[in-house]
Amino acid sequence: MEEKKRKLILDVDTGSDDAVAVLLSILSGRFDVLGITVSWGNSDVETCVNNTLQIVDMLGADIPVFQGCPGPMVREMTKGRVMNLPPNKISTTKDGKVYTMHPNVLPIPPAVSKKQEQHACAFLMEAIKKSPEKVTVIPTAPMTNIGMALRMDPSLVENIEEIVLMGGAVHMGNASPSAEANFFHDPEAAKIVLDSGAKIRIVPLNATHSAGLYREDAAKLIGLGTMAGKLAGDLVNMRLDSSDIMGWRSDQGEPIHDALAVAWALDESVIVESREEKCDVEMNGGICDGTMVVDHRRGYEFVPNARVAYRGDRKRFMEILCEHLSKGPKAADV
Ligand code: BDR
Ligand code: CA
Repeated sequence: MEEKKRKLILDVDTGSDDAVAVLLSILSGRFDVLGITVSWGNSDVETCVNNTLQIVDMLGADIPVFQGCPGPMVREMTKGRVMNLPPNKISTTKDGKVYTMHPNVLPIPPAVSKKQEQHACAFLMEAIKKSPEKVTVIPTAPMTNIGMALRMDPSLVENIEEIVLMGGAVHMGNASPSAEANFFHDPEAAKIVLDSGAKIRIVPLNATHSAGLYREDAAKLIGLGTMAGKLAGDLVNMRLDSSDIMGWRSDQGEPIHDALAVAWALDESVIVESREEKCDVEMNGGICDGTMVVDHRRGYEFVPNARVAYRGDRKRFMEILCEHLSKGPKAADV
């Protein structure tokens, strides 16, 4: 008997790794994707919407895309909140060539379809409330949209199957010395989600950096001969190029953060180490603003609110990507 598809809403800021997450969730065939809500983050929200539409069009998928919030809930209202932190660069120019982690336009045909009129937050509230089955939400961006929807209607949580989010880090950082970008950009939204009472799984930097991809993986994805495989492989190479030039290379490959969250929602075995944790987020400004705080103490007050992934399996991740990105239009059709 065919497995029942899980109702899904993706919340993205496409974005190179979000692009792979979108491809994987649509092509897996395991989700009934009710809609894709788009947040600001890797770029302004309009650019992220356009990039998302490009992917949906490339796959010929009939999935509505909703534009969401253009900036964080309240973070920018506190003057000087992150004043002392060095700027977070995602692009650089060398010898006249621009290297970026997140292109402003994806290297595929332009979008022809249009975003929906409805605001992403309104869609999240309506779709989750009305769904006859519980909805899984995968946020891979600053959680402004889902945080706002939960703030307006906390009872949404009753019809959420689980939230599998990419964000946070345990003793690591990328947007700042100690904070991961999705938490850093909207700490209050992250706090609302963490405290919502929903079943939560978190894919932090610890997991994504432990399952990074290499040039050989990019070549394998391109070799699948599909548009999805080619786009994913090109984006992995683009990220590797930028990391190299910006001196971020580690010997653990290039993290494709957001796609790992979708892979975990699809298949438990891609994460080989995870623990129930009590997670919080710093929201009081200063050098640790937006830092995820995991209480490692275990006492009578220990009430976990999330399962945190610590280590992924790169080989398994690649198997999942190859299985699903081998579907859809062939690359020669571009
Ligand atoms: C996260 O931040 C964004 O830049 C990526 O798309 C990913 O969601 C990684 O910290
Ligand atoms: Ca993202």
